[in-house]
Amino acid sequence: MTTVLLTGGAGFIGSHTCLVLLEAGHRVVVIDDFSNGSPEALRRVSELARLGSWRQLAPEQWAAGEGQPARLTLLKGDVRSPQDLDRAFEDGGGGDSGIDAVLHFAGLKAVGESMGQPLRYWDVNVVGAVRLLEAMGRHGCQTLVFSSSATLYGITDRVPIPETAPLQPINPYGYTKAAVERMLADVAASTPGWRIALLRYFNPVGAHPSGRIGEDPNGRPNNLFPFLCQVAAGRRQQLEVFGGDWPTPDGTGVRDYLHVMDLAEGHGRALEVLQAEPPQLLTLNLGSGCGHSVLDLVRSFEATNGLTLPYAVVDRRPGDSAISVADHREAERRMGWRTKRSLADICRDGWAWQSANPEGYRGSDRQPGRSLIQAQPVS
Ligand code: UFG
Repeated sequence: MTTVLLTGGAGFIGSHTCLVLLEAGHRVVVIDDFSNGSPEALRRVSELARLGSWRQLAPEQWAAGEGQPARLTLLKGDVRSPQDLDRAFEDGGGGDSGIDAVLHFAGLKAVGESMGQPLRYWDVNVVGAVRLLEAMGRHGCQTLVFSSSATLYGITDRVPIPETAPLQPINPYGYTKAAVERMLADVAASTPGWRIALLRYFNPVGAHPSGRIGEDPNGRPNNLFPFLCQVAAGRRQQLEVFGGDWPTPDGTGVRDYLHVMDLAEGHGRALEVLQAEPPQLLTLNLGSGCGHSVLDLVRSFEATNGLTLPYAVVDRRPGDSAISVADHREAERRMGWRTKRSLADICRDGWAWQSANPEGYRGSDRQPGRSLIQAQPVS
């Protein structure tokens, strides 16, 4: 059994990956500040993984460590805090077993927000990664999977985009991802023994098919899929389609949407490959290799779920590109991973989550309101 630390494990991609790792038999320690994640997500993950005694407990009791199962520990903490990280490695690691690997999801991810608050992005994303690497050094852990992004490729005409394409980010969010990738390459080159995977996500969407966990953005969603789900749920009046005059088949932007469960399984595979092979720095695109336009997604959502989505075509959004599609062959070659779920699966599962949880995790619990919770595994 491997013990894995997930920073930001209470967020969208982290919570789905947590479930995949638990189902594979691993022990998981999560550190999250709950700024864009919820302890309720992980309580539901433990329910889905059939880990134990969640039913009798309120989310805040659960987040405080009561009833947390032995294979899942949740700590409230900040990746910029050496003390919080040390607690995660020491207490969360369960004494002798220690942390074998880290999956680093924690970070800020809104492109527009990063343009208004660049220092915050450099602080959380880059300083947070520096502190994490220092903590890994203190605790003798050299296996890391990093959440990178296709945003690194910037605006390019290349279709599909291979990992070897030039990195040309165009906003502070993208610069911070590029900086961390560079830092990790420097660390791997300076010290033998590091096993690092840089996973460049394309457009992760959808939800676990149970409808119990999914994406729960704070405030107005920036991204297409959660916005579209909220229109379907009646929380938003209509979808604004950003541009109908792109050089694409129907004039709307084309993206590579991948089901979050495929992405979560990709993390599980990356971890297996890192642990099985000699130390290395692995850089992989995670995408389906297929492009779908905004209108493709709208129509698939309508057809799959028997709904009508009101939309209006408006001006292009600054900083957008016409097409972004992954060259996904390297991930298949290096780790035998490719997406298995279709656009219809994405639409069905995303709607199952949204319709069962119209307000996301709100009402269940978002803020346990403690500085750092020391979990007491009980089963
Ligand atoms: N779009 C709309 N209306 C909306 C939101 C989006 O028409 O309300 C369009 C966009 O113009 C684009 C497509 O839907 O054509 C997808 O937009 P998203 O905002 O969902 O995703 P992006 O491709 O712009 O960006 C996302 C993440 C980035 C990440 C990038 C990687 O937000 O952080 O994918 O490819 F870097």
